[in-house]
Amino acid sequence: MSTPQVHVLIPAAGRGQRYGGAMLKQYLPVCGKPVLAHSIKVFQFHPVVSSITVILAEDDQWFESAVGLLAANVNTVTGGDTRAQSVRNGLKFIADNYSDSDWVLVHDAARPCLSASRLEKFLEQGLESAHGAILAVPIGDTLKRAGDSQEIVATVDRAGLWAAQTPQLFRVGVLADALDVAYKADRKLTDEASAMEFVGIKPLLVMGSSANIKITHSSDLATAEALLTRKEQSF
Ligand code: CTP
Ligand code: MG
Repeated sequence: MSTPQVHVLIPAAGRGQRYGGAMLKQYLPVCGKPVLAHSIKVFQFHPVVSSITVILAEDDQWFESAVGLLAANVNTVTGGDTRAQSVRNGLKFIADNYSDSDWVLVHDAARPCLSASRLEKFLEQGLESAHGAILAVPIGDTLKRAGDSQEIVATVDRAGLWAAQTPQLFRVGVLADALDVAYKADRKLTDEASAMEFVGIKPLLVMGSSANIKITHSSDLATAEALLTRKEQSF
């Protein structure tokens, strides 16, 4: 069998509204490098990765100066108003320049702590799955549903619930078609797997790690710094 072609797509066109601040979270320094540079680095020079494409906001002014030199051979494309539209633009770029029967691995720009060993396990299992795969972790905490005044209105059974992470891995053309169907149905999506589920496909859940955090709120940056420092010390 021929080696699978995997194209990495890194959506970095978000505005970081929950994080706030003057500088976009994907460009803030963590362990001496922008968050986005860490998110790209784990894929650079990986033997199954054929290309890396970063999706940037139309008015992005930082990529070249903050990440450009650290990201040789990285393509850039312009994103859209939602994450799904950003990813859709990236998929068109891959289909136009490579092949839509290849694999695409989507990974958040805001997730800088993915380890090489976790990526390896993910690729091992994901590339064997006919329906694609995502990294995710089983929910450990007891889940509460909140009412309008932040009062508990219910305890939600956590059995079988997982928190979705990235990377998420699918065939380029299959994901593009699923995103188009979801878009036409006005379905709101927060990850790629949701589009696949919407068209009846059931991607595989691959065990992720609580260390693979997404920088969402301002307190998350210090956590990422601590996790990356620990990772660097373990080499
Ligand atoms: N993203 C994107 N295009 C968008 C929205 C989000 O490429 N229109 C990217 C973000 O840059 C980020 C990833 O999708 O790397 C995950 O999104 P999230 O953590 O929600 O980031 P933001 O949308 O920037 O943050 P917020 O929702 O707080 O505004
Ligand atoms: Mg967002």
